[in-house]
Amino acid sequence: MASKTAAICRGISRRSSGFGVRSMSSWWRNVEPAPKDPILGVTEAFLADPSPNKVNVGVGAYRDDNGKPVVLECVREAERRIIGNQNMEYLPMGGSVKMVEETLKLAYGENSDLIKEKRIAAVQALSGTGACRLFADFQKRFRPDSQIYIPVPTWANHHNIWRDAQVPQRTFHYYHPVSKGLDFASLMDDIKNAPNGSFFLLHACAHNPTGVDPTEEQWREISYQFKVKDHFAFFDMAYQGFASGDPERDAKSIRIFLEDGHLIGCAQSYAKNMGLYGQRVGCLSVLCEDEKQAVAVKSQLQQIARPMYSNPPSHGALIISTILSDPDLKNLWLKEVKVMADRIIGMRTALQENLERLGSSLSWEHITNQIGMFCYSGLTPEQVDRLTNEFHIYLTRNGRISMAGVTTGNVGYLANAIHEVTKSA
Ligand code: LMR
Repeated sequence: MASKTAAICRGISRRSSGFGVRSMSSWWRNVEPAPKDPILGVTEAFLADPSPNKVNVGVGAYRDDNGKPVVLECVREAERRIIGNQNMEYLPMGGSVKMVEETLKLAYGENSDLIKEKRIAAVQALSGTGACRLFADFQKRFRPDSQIYIPVPTWANHHNIWRDAQVPQRTFHYYHPVSKGLDFASLMDDIKNAPNGSFFLLHACAHNPTGVDPTEEQWREISYQFKVKDHFAFFDMAYQGFASGDPERDAKSIRIFLEDGHLIGCAQSYAKNMGLYGQRVGCLSVLCEDEKQAVAVKSQLQQIARPMYSNPPSHGALIISTILSDPDLKNLWLKEVKVMADRIIGMRTALQENLERLGSSLSWEHITNQIGMFCYSGLTPEQVDRLTNEFHIYLTRNGRISMAGVTTGNVGYLANAIHEVTKSA
């Protein structure tokens, strides 16, 4: 029997040694190159440009006034304390309990009853993206017929996340291109017209890409209307601290919804406000009716995480719990967040003033009216292409300028280039 099988195999390989090779080479023949990511693709193009004048205001990543990435002093100190004391064991599927505990306080409030009552199902996530993706998968699994309402515009990756989780997407009005501010009336109409019990994605603060947030009063109206319509609010809070310089103030939208008794979901990220971009650390929380429900929801979130990445990485989580559980380090962090936010606010003023000094006939007031890391400039894709091709200035084609990449050294050059490409507009 064995010798018969061996003979058959010899026969196959003698007859057609090219056969196997041909069939293997066809496995990926139908794979086309993926389109470039509209945000991270900009960084790739920037890195490939040899020009000494090049400027990257594409990706939302904080730079100091010399254009250099920043490691916060509180993070350095936490690392000094951790070094040599950290083991390399797995974290539980839900991540670091201590980090999650501290993170919930930032969103729900230091003395939140909801935390005390254990009503929040929360797991460590792979930064804000991972938190959104976990939630989208959870939504699909337990509310399979639901859709998600997404603001226009939004962070481009939100579309990818809910698409890959196979949750149908609808949009709601948000930005008004003429006022370059909030289209509040249309936003409220869309909330009212959505079927009762719809899921909405809201940016808690420092809206990406527009830098336009509702006022406190408007948040109250939104929350009220969500109550009337029994909608579910999922907050993406990727920039807590970057809007006002104070993480507590930046959580106001969420606190308003909590005061009104909503059961919300929330994605938190430490990429920006702790500068832990590459550590991929954040948190997903889902507020439940009671502790029993929270236990069930958390167990399901963990079960979604298990086949995806098993459990989250430990180093960033340890940095965060070290900082947030030590009052001195936490204070240092709060000061450093404010320094970052203030530098960006200063650059907004500088960019606007430079454009006005150049005699631009356009209004640039929105640069200082908008908040957070981004300025939604109003530049057209063609004007952005000119900035890149003629001036080596890199930004996303929707005209979003990452103010975090603007410095005392490049703001004049940037203003001059913007003035040149908008002169005839
Ligand atoms: C951005 O919007 O630039 C950042 O959130 C980075 C990213 O992953 O897109």
